[in-house]
Amino acid sequence: MTEHHATEKREKSRFGLILHLHPRKVKASTLRFTLTFGLGGMAALLVVIQVVTGLLLKFHYEPSPENAYNSILNLQESLLFGKMLRNIHHWSAIAFVWVAFLHMLRTAFTGAYRPPRDGTWITGLALMLLVVLSNFTGYLLPWDQLSYWAVTVGTSLLSYIPLAGEPIRRALLGGAEVGQPTLTNFFNLHTGVIPLMIIALMAWHFWRIRRAGGVIVADRDKESPMADTKPYLVNREFVVAITLLAAIFIISSLLDAPLRERANPAFSPNPAKAPWYFMGLQELLIHFHPLFAVFILPVTALVAAVWMPYIKSTDRNQGVWFLSPAGIRSARMAAATGMIMAIIFITMSEILPDPEVLLPEVTPLLTTGLVPFILAAGTVWLLLKYLRRRYSLKRSEMIQSIVVLMVVSYAVLTVTGIFFRGGGMNLVWPWNV
Ligand code: HEM
Ligand code: HEM
Repeated sequence: MTEHHATEKREKSRFGLILHLHPRKVKASTLRFTLTFGLGGMAALLVVIQVVTGLLLKFHYEPSPENAYNSILNLQESLLFGKMLRNIHHWSAIAFVWVAFLHMLRTAFTGAYRPPRDGTWITGLALMLLVVLSNFTGYLLPWDQLSYWAVTVGTSLLSYIPLAGEPIRRALLGGAEVGQPTLTNFFNLHTGVIPLMIIALMAWHFWRIRRAGGVIVADRDKESPMADTKPYLVNREFVVAITLLAAIFIISSLLDAPLRERANPAFSPNPAKAPWYFMGLQELLIHFHPLFAVFILPVTALVAAVWMPYIKSTDRNQGVWFLSPAGIRSARMAAATGMIMAIIFITMSEILPDPEVLLPEVTPLLTTGLVPFILAAGTVWLLLKYLRRRYSLKRSEMIQSIVVLMVVSYAVLTVTGIFFRGGGMNLVWPWNV
């Protein structure tokens, strides 16, 4: 065997697993950091971090209302690196929601959801739901005032879903309120069912990416040469991984995961808020009829997201951020409109008299449901008409404008819910929350 062959064989065995996850060569244009920002890879690393730290936490954690809180206190105070372990799991869980969400936006805004990437997009949507669910089920485990009441409020949102809502809520809680059966259910979902589902779906997600021929390539890069996965891709992944790990370690050394007093089912804090990623929904509930806030609007958004790849469009806009110069301009307008619409909506419903009091004879399903829904949908429709005329938008750019508008207005609702709602969920300045 020549020296060259021997080195190649050694290298192959050293990078065997990595070369199984990747093809041997990738399109050089897809290595550009600003195309993906390494977000998919970060999400994969976060799964590994959560599984490893979660399995270690399991050695010490006791899933019962009597012992859960003390087991966490004990873990933090008496176990070497116990606090660090909990901090890493806690901050990585938050990073995971952000990273998965930003990765979703990056694939949407580079047009990477259309066939042949439809399967990748749809497995991605399922992963997004699981990431939020794994966060929500973990939230309860410390069994302090924050976790108990956030889960009580979060699960109460379910009861507004017609017919199936209340049975689903009771099945999840294992009773009428959060208690021992809830902790058992959440613990088993959190440390067993959900991680297994995430790992299985992630494998499927990766396979779909491979089947689609790798990460999206813009038309202008079609002629871009191929580059060897090792070292060009592997080295970049290594840098992203080390940076993410370093950031998590630094944050976890400086900031402790919160732990309030032990859960007290008899005393509800005011305001009682859902976990931060559900605050947009809780905020919607203040303005809209519950049927619209927690059922019609979220289900419409989900169905639209699943349907998005299959909307016919003949343009080839893809692989560049915001698709085209017209795409960038229309996205900016949509973002500004989404922000202004949401702020006006929140202030109007604060200033104007409550329609349910003003028009008691009309069903709230109309006054706080269908009417505001039609008004909002009408504004979006008018904006799209205007954008299409002004920028001669193609189908993909129109879809993008709607996504931008939805995401920005939901972000405003979320920020309002988290930072601007005080006692009784009244509007207050953040320093008075
Ligand atoms: C897959 C992604 C995962 C996410 C997003 C996640 C998220 C969370 C969150 C938000 C908490 C509450 C942390 C706190 O406030 O202290 C938590 C706690 C916990 N998780 Fe996970 N987790 C994941 C995976 C796992 C796995 C795989 C296991 C074990 C097999 C696990 C075991 C635990 C345990 C025992 C706790 C209670 C300890 C504590 O609250 O600090 N987690 N998780
Ligand atoms: C556990 C969560 C997730 C993991 C581990 C993951 C992992 C990855 C990786 C490694 C890539 C290739 C590199 C990159 O684009 O950064 C990728 C691509 C992709 N992901 Fe995800 N992802 C996750 C969640 C999601 C979500 C929430 C969505 C959207 C709903 C999504 C949709 C896609 C799409 C459409 C692609 C193809 C992008 C392209 O071809 O340019 N993924 N994912």
